Amino acid sequence: MHFMAALYPDVVDPPAPDGKLGWQALQAIRHHRTPLAALELFHRELGDVFQMGLTGFKATVLVGPAANRFVLVDQRQQFQWRMPGDPITRLLRQGLLVIDGEQHASLRQAMTPAFHKRMLTGYIQAMTRHTDRLTAAWPADHPLDMLDQIRRVSLLILVDTMFGVDFGPDMDRLYPAVLRSLNYIGPGPWLLWPAMPRWGYRRALQQLDDYLFTLIRTRRATGQTGDDVPGLLIEAGLDDDLIRDQLFTLLIAGHDTGTALLAWVMYLLGRHPEVMARAQAEVDTVLGTQPPTAAHLPELVYLEQVINETLRLYPPLHLGLRRPTADLEFQGHWLPAGQRVMYSPYLTHRHPAYWPNPHQFDPDRFSPERRRQYTPYAFVPFGGGPRTCLGAAFARVEAKVILARFLQQFTFTLIQPDVHLHMGVTVEPRPGVLMTIQPH
Ligand code: HEM
Repeated sequence: MHFMAALYPDVVDPPAPDGKLGWQALQAIRHHRTPLAALELFHRELGDVFQMGLTGFKATVLVGPAANRFVLVDQRQQFQWRMPGDPITRLLRQGLLVIDGEQHASLRQAMTPAFHKRMLTGYIQAMTRHTDRLTAAWPADHPLDMLDQIRRVSLLILVDTMFGVDFGPDMDRLYPAVLRSLNYIGPGPWLLWPAMPRWGYRRALQQLDDYLFTLIRTRRATGQTGDDVPGLLIEAGLDDDLIRDQLFTLLIAGHDTGTALLAWVMYLLGRHPEVMARAQAEVDTVLGTQPPTAAHLPELVYLEQVINETLRLYPPLHLGLRRPTADLEFQGHWLPAGQRVMYSPYLTHRHPAYWPNPHQFDPDRFSPERRRQYTPYAFVPFGGGPRTCLGAAFARVEAKVILARFLQQFTFTLIQPDVHLHMGVTVEPRPGVLMTIQPH
């Protein structure tokens, strides 16, 4: 780096918070009950490129459309995803999310047919069926935590559509294990102490492994192929371990993000009853009491706006992690090889240069006329480039179907408006989204 610095004297290290700003960041975290408050403060004070330094964990955060493009598209070959010692890599091993290069490209290709448009009709039916099963069991007289309810329905939908199996009989047994696995990979003290012992996870992770390996062996035994993920991967000649890694990846990536999105949508609808009424009126006009079909979905224009505006304010994946394989320069700052770099959908989506009144919930920003005005890469809830979310279209359809079905049947009242942004694997409303329901 010294050699490079001598060659390029105008390129400097990214600014880092000094003691005073660090202290203010701690206050902000305490006040807002989320580490995202510190990120917002650093961004405001230090600009679009800044360092976060903690012993054992140093990262440069890059914010804004140009930064997103730099990481996701222009310089993508200079960035690796895989961080060998991180819990997510230890859990997902050779899963699509945590591998790079040729192996990533060929696995992605093998899984892509499960996300093809022609699969959507069947998926929509499954999404509707599971949502109806869930709502049929809702008690009329006491409040529900929508975060928990949505996680359950997302898991049922994911396992049914992607793996071709009903998760219902295993839900109660495996639900705590799923939460445990999320806790294992979420941010925590291991960021400061990577080799810290992690007790209390073995049993849960083993339970999920047993479930997935049994599923794979059963599929091999029946010889049934098909367009679901185990079918595709068996046909592509993968061994059981490698298939397990892809299924585990989908189990996590395919349900936790959608859960966070819908939990925030419900929260925001609860905070803005006029938006809920408008979305409900649209659903009534487009669907009446009919279940949604692929032909209906494009007509639910306002619902789409609500989903987009929620993805903007609370992108489930608030940060994307990478590691440069060579020394790079971005907007006059060094990004040394090997040191973590993050692009941030959360900070980009609240950047005042690209979003007027960035903290305000306003679904009309995404009206067909206005959404065209936004800068490319200023809205990146699904990432971008060749590693863009594999399930983005699926997730959008799922969100619309579940919401449409909810709003067709019920009106919701938020009874616990005081939530904070919990920074786990995704940004979640905590302690949850407590709502009462009334028949619509
Ligand atoms: C609202 C829901 C979702 C959001 C916001 C979301 C967001 C993202 C983002 C931002 C990335 C890129 C991460 C990066 O750049 O490092 C990603 C990757 C990925 N997502 Fe999603 N996702 C969602 C739903 C889903 C669903 C439903 C599935 C599968 C059924 C899925 C499967 C994946 C996979 C496999 C990858 C890795 C792709 C690769 O590296 O090639 N996601 N997602």
